[in-house]
Amino acid sequence: MDAKKPTESLTTMAQVMQITDANTDGFVHGGSIMKLVDSAAGVASMRHAQRRVVTAQVDSLTFHAPVHIGDVLSLTACVTQAWNSSMEVEVTVHREDPVTGDQDHTTTAYLTMVALDEHGRPVAVPGVAPDTVEETRRQREAETRRQSRIQLRQDLESD
Ligand SMILES: CC(C)(COP(=O)(O)OP(=O)(O)OC[C@H]1O[C@@H](n2cnc3c(N)ncnc32)[C@H](O)[C@@H]1OP(=O)(O)O)[C@@H](O)C(=O)NCCC(=O)NCCS
Repeated sequence: MDAKKPTESLTTMAQVMQITDANTDGFVHGGSIMKLVDSAAGVASMRHAQRRVVTAQVDSLTFHAPVHIGDVLSLTACVTQAWNSSMEVEVTVHREDPVTGDQDHTTTAYLTMVALDEHGRPVAVPGVAPDTVEETRRQREAETRRQSRIQLRQDLESD
Protein backbone atom coordinates (compact mmCIF):
# COMPACT_ATOMS: atom_id res chain seq x y z
CA MET A 1 0.00 0.00 0.00
CA ASP A 2 1.56 3.32 -1.07
CA ALA A 3 1.96 6.01 1.57
CA LYS A 4 -0.12 9.15 1.03
CA LYS A 5 0.70 12.82 1.37
CA PRO A 6 -1.06 14.78 4.13
CA THR A 7 -2.55 17.03 1.45
CA GLU A 8 -4.48 14.03 0.07
CA SER A 9 -6.57 13.96 3.24
CA LEU A 10 -6.86 17.73 3.59
CA THR A 11 -10.47 18.62 4.37
CA THR A 12 -12.05 22.05 4.77
CA MET A 13 -15.57 22.75 5.96
CA ALA A 14 -17.43 25.97 6.72
CA GLN A 15 -20.66 26.44 8.62
CA VAL A 16 -22.67 29.40 9.93
CA MET A 17 -23.51 29.02 13.62
CA GLN A 18 -27.28 29.05 14.23
CA ILE A 19 -29.53 29.75 17.22
CA THR A 20 -29.87 25.98 17.76
CA ASP A 21 -26.06 25.76 18.26
CA ALA A 22 -26.01 28.29 21.10
CA ASN A 23 -27.15 29.01 24.63
CA THR A 24 -29.52 31.86 25.56
CA ASP A 25 -26.60 34.32 25.79
CA GLY A 26 -25.66 33.66 22.15
CA PHE A 27 -22.50 31.64 22.87
CA VAL A 28 -22.10 28.47 20.80
CA HIS A 29 -22.04 25.19 22.79
CA GLY A 30 -18.70 23.37 22.86
CA GLY A 31 -20.60 20.22 21.89
CA SER A 32 -21.80 21.80 18.62
CA ILE A 33 -18.17 22.55 17.71
CA MET A 34 -17.06 19.06 18.80
CA LYS A 35 -19.61 17.47 16.44
CA LEU A 36 -18.21 19.49 13.50
CA VAL A 37 -14.64 18.59 14.55
CA ASP A 38 -15.57 14.89 14.58
CA SER A 39 -17.21 15.19 11.12
CA ALA A 40 -14.15 16.91 9.64
CA ALA A 41 -11.82 14.27 11.17
CA GLY A 42 -14.08 11.55 9.76
CA VAL A 43 -13.89 12.93 6.23
CA ALA A 44 -10.09 13.48 6.37
CA SER A 45 -9.44 9.94 7.66
CA MET A 46 -11.82 8.38 5.10
CA ARG A 47 -9.98 10.25 2.34
CA HIS A 48 -6.70 8.83 3.64
CA ALA A 49 -7.86 5.25 4.28
CA GLN A 50 -10.54 5.02 1.57
CA ARG A 51 -12.47 2.97 4.13
CA ARG A 52 -15.20 3.70 6.62
CA VAL A 53 -13.82 4.87 9.94
CA VAL A 54 -14.79 5.25 13.59
CA THR A 55 -13.57 7.71 16.19
CA ALA A 56 -11.51 5.75 18.73
CA GLN A 57 -10.34 8.67 20.86
CA VAL A 58 -10.41 12.42 21.12
CA ASP A 59 -6.96 13.07 22.45
CA SER A 60 -7.19 16.75 23.08
CA LEU A 61 -9.64 19.49 22.23
CA THR A 62 -8.90 23.02 23.34
CA PHE A 63 -11.20 26.02 23.03
CA HIS A 64 -9.04 29.15 22.70
CA ALA A 65 -11.84 31.68 22.04
CA PRO A 66 -15.66 31.79 22.19
CA VAL A 67 -17.93 31.47 19.14
CA HIS A 68 -21.19 33.41 18.69
CA ILE A 69 -24.42 32.96 16.72
CA GLY A 70 -23.85 34.23 13.14
CA ASP A 71 -20.12 33.48 13.17
CA VAL A 72 -18.78 31.41 10.27
CA LEU A 73 -16.75 28.46 11.52
CA SER A 74 -14.01 27.18 9.20
CA LEU A 75 -12.53 23.76 9.96
CA THR A 76 -9.36 22.30 8.48
CA ALA A 77 -8.56 18.62 9.05
CA CYS A 78 -5.57 16.57 7.95
CA VAL A 79 -4.12 13.13 8.76
CA THR A 80 -0.80 13.75 10.53
CA GLN A 81 0.31 10.12 10.94
CA ALA A 82 -1.01 6.60 10.34
CA TRP A 83 0.03 3.37 12.05
CA ASN A 84 -1.57 -0.01 11.32
CA SER A 85 -5.31 0.62 11.29
CA SER A 86 -5.35 3.92 13.19
CA MET A 87 -4.67 7.47 12.10
CA GLU A 88 -4.23 10.73 13.95
CA VAL A 89 -6.14 13.70 12.54
CA GLU A 90 -5.40 17.31 13.47
CA VAL A 91 -8.39 19.63 13.25
CA THR A 92 -8.09 23.39 13.54
CA VAL A 93 -11.09 25.70 13.78
CA HIS A 94 -11.33 29.44 13.08
CA ARG A 95 -14.31 31.72 13.63
CA GLU A 96 -15.10 34.80 11.59
CA ASP A 97 -17.67 37.54 11.99
CA PRO A 98 -18.62 37.89 8.31
CA VAL A 99 -19.74 41.53 8.79
CA THR A 100 -16.69 42.93 10.59
CA GLY A 101 -14.18 40.38 9.29
CA ASP A 102 -13.01 39.82 12.89
CA GLN A 103 -11.32 36.38 13.13
CA ASP A 104 -9.97 34.06 15.84
CA HIS A 105 -8.34 30.65 16.01
CA THR A 106 -10.85 28.99 18.36
CA THR A 107 -10.00 25.31 18.56
CA THR A 108 -7.30 22.71 17.97
CA ALA A 109 -8.10 19.01 18.33
CA TYR A 110 -6.36 15.69 17.82
CA LEU A 111 -8.46 12.60 17.17
CA THR A 112 -7.56 8.95 16.64
CA MET A 113 -9.66 7.37 13.90
CA VAL A 114 -9.65 3.64 13.07
CA ALA A 115 -10.41 2.22 9.61
CA LEU A 116 -12.77 -0.74 9.46
CA ASP A 117 -13.24 -3.47 6.87
CA GLU A 118 -16.61 -4.68 5.60
CA HIS A 119 -16.99 -6.86 8.72
CA GLY A 120 -16.35 -3.95 11.08
CA ARG A 121 -12.84 -5.10 12.00
CA PRO A 122 -9.80 -2.79 12.06
CA VAL A 123 -7.99 -2.87 8.72
CA ALA A 124 -4.55 -1.65 7.57
CA VAL A 125 -4.28 1.89 6.17
CA PRO A 126 -1.60 3.58 4.04
CA GLY A 127 1.27 5.37 5.81
CA VAL A 128 1.85 9.11 5.67
CA ALA A 129 4.63 10.55 3.48
CA PRO A 130 5.21 14.17 4.50
CA ASP A 131 6.32 16.59 1.80
CA THR A 132 7.28 19.62 3.85
CA VAL A 133 9.22 20.47 7.01
CA GLU A 134 5.93 21.43 8.69
CA GLU A 135 4.27 18.11 7.78
CA THR A 136 7.34 16.23 9.06
CA ARG A 137 7.12 18.13 12.37
CA ARG A 138 3.41 17.25 12.67
CA GLN A 139 4.19 13.57 11.97
CA ARG A 140 6.93 13.56 14.64
CA GLU A 141 4.61 15.21 17.19
CA ALA A 142 1.87 12.66 16.36
CA GLU A 143 4.33 9.87 17.27
CA THR A 144 4.99 11.55 20.63
CA ARG A 145 1.24 11.81 21.34
CA ARG A 146 0.75 8.11 20.43
CA GLN A 147 3.56 7.07 22.78
CA SER A 148 1.93 9.14 25.56
CA ARG A 149 -1.46 7.48 24.89
CA ILE A 150 0.07 4.00 25.05
CA GLN A 151 2.03 4.84 28.19
CA LEU A 152 -1.08 6.26 29.90
CA ARG A 153 -3.12 3.14 29.00
CA GLN A 154 -0.37 0.88 30.39
CA ASP A 155 -0.08 2.95 33.58
CA LEU A 156 -3.85 2.80 34.17
CA GLU A 157 -3.97 -0.95 33.48
CA SER A 158 -1.13 -1.63 35.93
CA ASP A 159 -2.89 0.24 38.78
C1 LIG B 1 -11.88 1.61 17.87
C2 LIG B 1 -12.19 0.13 17.77
C3 LIG B 1 -12.59 -0.23 16.35
C4 LIG B 1 -10.90 -0.62 18.16
O1 LIG B 1 -11.22 -1.98 18.11
P1 LIG B 1 -10.31 -3.09 18.87
O2 LIG B 1 -10.96 -4.37 18.74
O3 LIG B 1 -9.94 -2.54 20.21
O4 LIG B 1 -9.08 -3.13 17.92
P2 LIG B 1 -7.53 -3.22 18.25
O5 LIG B 1 -7.23 -3.43 19.69
O6 LIG B 1 -7.00 -4.19 17.25
O7 LIG B 1 -7.02 -1.76 17.88
C5 LIG B 1 -7.12 -1.28 16.56
C6 LIG B 1 -6.43 0.05 16.48
O8 LIG B 1 -7.19 0.97 17.24
C7 LIG B 1 -6.35 1.64 18.15
N1 LIG B 1 -7.14 1.92 19.32
C8 LIG B 1 -8.00 1.10 19.96
N2 LIG B 1 -8.56 1.72 21.01
C9 LIG B 1 -8.01 2.96 21.04
C10 LIG B 1 -8.18 4.09 21.89
N3 LIG B 1 -9.00 4.09 22.92
N4 LIG B 1 -7.48 5.21 21.61
C11 LIG B 1 -6.64 5.26 20.55
N5 LIG B 1 -6.44 4.23 19.70
C12 LIG B 1 -7.12 3.10 19.96
C13 LIG B 1 -5.24 0.66 18.45
O9 LIG B 1 -4.08 1.34 18.93
C14 LIG B 1 -5.03 0.05 17.09
O10 LIG B 1 -4.23 0.93 16.30
P3 LIG B 1 -3.18 0.33 15.22
O11 LIG B 1 -3.92 -0.75 14.45
O12 LIG B 1 -2.85 1.49 14.33
O13 LIG B 1 -2.01 -0.17 15.99
C15 LIG B 1 -13.35 -0.31 18.75
O14 LIG B 1 -12.92 -0.07 20.08
C16 LIG B 1 -14.64 0.40 18.49
O15 LIG B 1 -15.38 0.07 17.57
N6 LIG B 1 -14.96 1.43 19.32
C17 LIG B 1 -16.19 2.19 19.13
C18 LIG B 1 -15.95 3.31 18.13
C19 LIG B 1 -17.17 4.16 17.92
O16 LIG B 1 -18.28 3.68 17.83
N7 LIG B 1 -16.97 5.48 17.84
C20 LIG B 1 -18.02 6.41 17.63
C21 LIG B 1 -18.33 7.16 18.86
S1 LIG B 1 -19.44 6.33 19.93
